[in-house]
Amino acid sequence: MTTIQDTLGCGLAVVGLLVVLVRYVPGLLHFFWAYLLRPRTNVWRRYGGPGAWAIVTGASDGIGFAYAQVLAGEGFGVIMVARNKEKLATKREEIIKVYPKADIRIVKLDFNTEYSDPALYTALLDEIKGKDIAILINNVGIGNAHEFDTYPLGKIREIVKVTATSFIFTSRMILPTLLKRGRKAALVSISSATGMKPWPYFSIYGSSKSFMNTAMKSLSMEYRGSNVDFMDCITGEVISGTHQQGSVASVSSEQCVRGQLRFLGYEELTYGHIVHYLTCGLDFEFMRRAIGKSMSADYDKMWKAAEAGKVEAK
Ligand SMILES: NC(=O)c1ccc[n+]([C@@H]2O[C@H](COP(=O)([O-])OP(=O)(O)OC[C@H]3O[C@@H](n4cnc5c(N)ncnc54)[C@H](OP(=O)(O)O)[C@@H]3O)[C@@H](O)[C@H]2O)c1
Repeated sequence: MTTIQDTLGCGLAVVGLLVVLVRYVPGLLHFFWAYLLRPRTNVWRRYGGPGAWAIVTGASDGIGFAYAQVLAGEGFGVIMVARNKEKLATKREEIIKVYPKADIRIVKLDFNTEYSDPALYTALLDEIKGKDIAILINNVGIGNAHEFDTYPLGKIREIVKVTATSFIFTSRMILPTLLKRGRKAALVSISSATGMKPWPYFSIYGSSKSFMNTAMKSLSMEYRGSNVDFMDCITGEVISGTHQQGSVASVSSEQCVRGQLRFLGYEELTYGHIVHYLTCGLDFEFMRRAIGKSMSADYDKMWKAAEAGKVEAK
């Protein structure tokens, strides 16, 4: 005979199953669809065309350089922005060796300056005059970790300016041009897993990336239905100019870029590469604490050595 307890037990089991289904099944289905079944975006077909250009900030190294390379390979003219003109020129030559027809321009711009001064953008705005700008990649950013109570004040200022505010000013300067384009355009920002969850020792960098995440979500909503596709890339560990020691969780800069571009036009927020989907989605607080602490110790040593004139400051 069925008792009230049996009926209640069955009811709870059904509710539990429904909760699990509602919570996890859409994500799983989306994962299979997005990563395994849906064709990757053909970036040139969607945004390209004769004389189409892309702007990449922080383009002389790491992820930004990989964006410049990949987009030049797709056929876009590329405007590479960074602080060091000689390094930019060398990197431009590297791309031209592989893609001799690529049209690459370089713009020297230091984002660690007074970001609200429009004069900062004069060289970039001069360079884009008369060009069909199709894509903006907001890549520049400075990431480091430290105990908050002894964080060097200059480093805090630099992170906030270069990582958070430069992105919003660059977007404000370039978005009107993208919106006026007679066809599809894209605004992409390279964020970080540290901006999604609390990361001890990454309080400044992580919150700068959270600023980017919130702004990107708001902009995606504000301009939904326009010709501009917005995409915020929650990036995990990448081997790059300043981050050369990899782990099982890292991918190369080129893998990172190709992993992100496949979602452009489909997703407003992406982890990009499948390794980043798995590692950023499955992290645990103790891991974030341990990684933050160990990186904080590394930066502490590096900055002390830089103060003593033994290594270049980062
Ligand atoms: N690598 C990772 O594991 C990782 C993970 C998550 C998110 N990210 C994000 O991805 C982006 C790129 O990181 P990355 O590791 O590829 O960087 P990276 O290898 O250190 O390269 C940084 C680039 O930015 C330029 N840059 C630095 N400071 C600048 C300034 N004040 N003004 C103008 N340009 C400046 C550098 O060139 P110059 O020094 O010549 O100016 C270089 O081209 C950043 O936003 C970072 O936060 C990286």
